[in-house]
Amino acid sequence: MLDKLNEIEKSALTSLESINDQAALDAWRVSNVGRNSPLMNVFAELGKLSKEEKPVVGAAANRVKVALESALEERSQAIKTVSLAKSLEEEQLDVTLPGRTINIGRLHPSTQQLRRVLAILAEMGFQVYTSREVETDEMNFQLLNFPLHHPARDMQDSFYVEAGDRGDNPILMRTHTSPGQIRAMREYAAMNPKDPPSIRIALPGMCFRYEQITARSEIQFNQVEGLAVGKNITFADLKGTIADFVRRMFGQGARLRFRASYFPFTEPSAEVDVECFVCGGVGCQVCKNSGWLEILGCGMVHPNVLQNGGYDPKIYSGFAWGMGPERQLMLRNKINDIRYFWGNDIRFLQQF
Ligand code: DAH
Repeated sequence: MLDKLNEIEKSALTSLESINDQAALDAWRVSNVGRNSPLMNVFAELGKLSKEEKPVVGAAANRVKVALESALEERSQAIKTVSLAKSLEEEQLDVTLPGRTINIGRLHPSTQQLRRVLAILAEMGFQVYTSREVETDEMNFQLLNFPLHHPARDMQDSFYVEAGDRGDNPILMRTHTSPGQIRAMREYAAMNPKDPPSIRIALPGMCFRYEQITARSEIQFNQVEGLAVGKNITFADLKGTIADFVRRMFGQGARLRFRASYFPFTEPSAEVDVECFVCGGVGCQVCKNSGWLEILGCGMVHPNVLQNGGYDPKIYSGFAWGMGPERQLMLRNKINDIRYFWGNDIRFLQQF
């Protein structure tokens, strides 16, 4: 038995000498100190030995086991040292190479502009009111004084949502933020129907129109609607508010003009132009030689619309406007194609 143990030890240590990698070392461990190794078989057979032999052989087997395990540990360390030295040698790190650039995310230019607009309006006392993007025909048109088949609807070709047959009140993607006026007025009026509170809100958000996509028109765009309703509100308040906004947005020297216009939900209605930033009013390609750029539509809220919102037009009056943040950015930054906004071209987006 003792001879056998000596033999086991010698052959195990000899074969260990030629091992140079981790895989072979693992295999060696299994066959030399593993559960079915010859050494472990000796332990298993100890029980069959006589009383005198057992302690002697047992002690010898233990000694061999310790010897093999420490040789294994030593070999394992040696292999690790060699492989570390090798990888340091072969996989040298060139610390002079430039690092990989990390792309830092940012807000979309439209979001940035929306926030600028809302920050200015907040300073002027307008609270943000968010309204839904999917609307009924009633909210989007009828209650805003666009009767069925009214020709003004043609300016706002719509995306209809499949929602069964709802007759004259189909579901559509809102074509402007104006339906939020009705929702807001009704919500405010409900707080105190006999004497509804006055309103000063800004309604931002995405609008959708079934347009042919060109450099000048997209099927989606943001708007910021403004609405002020109260007692004794006049066109002078509208003019003052818009003029103040324009100066805060485009600079104290910005000149603006009001032009008479038409919207079904305001009376009287106007469009507002600012002096062209590009040519300073002399006339250029951007302003099509007029010296002016249109930035918004506005007007005094139509009595029918006040009524539909729950505000008695004999007691209350108000003004409203609608403007496009993408359009403002185009003017400010001389962007000549609206398709850049949703084209998702990183070269465009990174400039903001
Ligand atoms: N809703 C109009 C549009 O999208 C813009 C507009 C014009 C809104 C005049 C208003 C307004 O509130 O008074 O074309």
